[in-house]
Amino acid sequence: MEDDDIFKTCPQHTISWLKGNITMYKYLGFWNIKSFHEGTILAQKCFKAEPSDVLVSSCPKTGTTWLKALAFAIVTRDKFDESTTPLLTTMPHDCIPLLEHDLKKVEDNHKNSGFPLVATHLPYSSLPESLVASDCKIVYIYRNVKDVIVSHYRFLQEATKLSVDDAPFEAAFDDFCQGISWCGPYWDHILGYWKASHERPGRILFLKYEDMKRDPRNNVKRLAEFIGYPFSIEEEKAGVVENIIKLCSFENMSNLEVNKSGTHRPEEEDIAIENRLYFRKAKDGDWENYFTEEMKEKIDKLIDEKLSGTGLVL
Ligand code: A3P
Repeated sequence: MEDDDIFKTCPQHTISWLKGNITMYKYLGFWNIKSFHEGTILAQKCFKAEPSDVLVSSCPKTGTTWLKALAFAIVTRDKFDESTTPLLTTMPHDCIPLLEHDLKKVEDNHKNSGFPLVATHLPYSSLPESLVASDCKIVYIYRNVKDVIVSHYRFLQEATKLSVDDAPFEAAFDDFCQGISWCGPYWDHILGYWKASHERPGRILFLKYEDMKRDPRNNVKRLAEFIGYPFSIEEEKAGVVENIIKLCSFENMSNLEVNKSGTHRPEEEDIAIENRLYFRKAKDGDWENYFTEEMKEKIDKLIDEKLSGTGLVL
């Protein structure tokens, strides 16, 4: 089937609470805008993974920007320090190419630089075959569902330049509960990687946003070790771990000029986003400012059902 025909036949949903500004398509079980699905199909057809690739994966609004900054700082620390790192002038999403959008850059990295990091929001079941076959390492971040719902809502509301009053949160919540969110259903995204992590022991590292905030030092060390860039004893003594944590902290990143006034993908009108929208509050429990008791009960019940037996707590 031609790509255009695929999108004529798959379910679509124009988001009413965004005044119809965004239409999502459900392809291979997950919702996204058309251009990202097209990029997925291209990556599935063409991408040739290298065993040294390290996939940085997540559902949007779970802490991707932070994880990318940390992974980039870890992998490039031999070349740059806190005063020379590209993270000071380039937003984290522009430091690691996105498989379903920047395939050429990923391929260039394979050819030219040996830079191992590849980012994706793809669900596990949509990853290119060569990537799964390569058995490369995958780092996956997830986050409390209620904070993801609010973060997702505020991001799209601001990106479409609507006021909070013009974009009713209740409708955003209902869509999310029906699985209609960016790369949703969120729980299916998590479950795909969780199941794969049991089928491929030692190849998928699960990081939880809230755990990373509570204990950044141990989680950054786990991340570095897992991706094959462990800190030496000398580095630990010299405070390299702490320096990376500080560099990538919300306080530091959100105050950098590039993240206050720059734009991500400025040349692509339909998906250009102000960098500042990736740095909102970074507070655990902000959902309490948005949820009614009824919403809380509904999402708790849904997550209990969807993730029962996994031991995952959202
Ligand atoms: P909030 O909307 O709750 O503030 P993603 O990067 O996956 O799009 O997720 C965005 C969320 O991560 C936003 O949450 C954002 O504020 C938060 N975030 C961005 N940079 C961060 C950092 N360096 N440390 C912690 N959280 C960060």
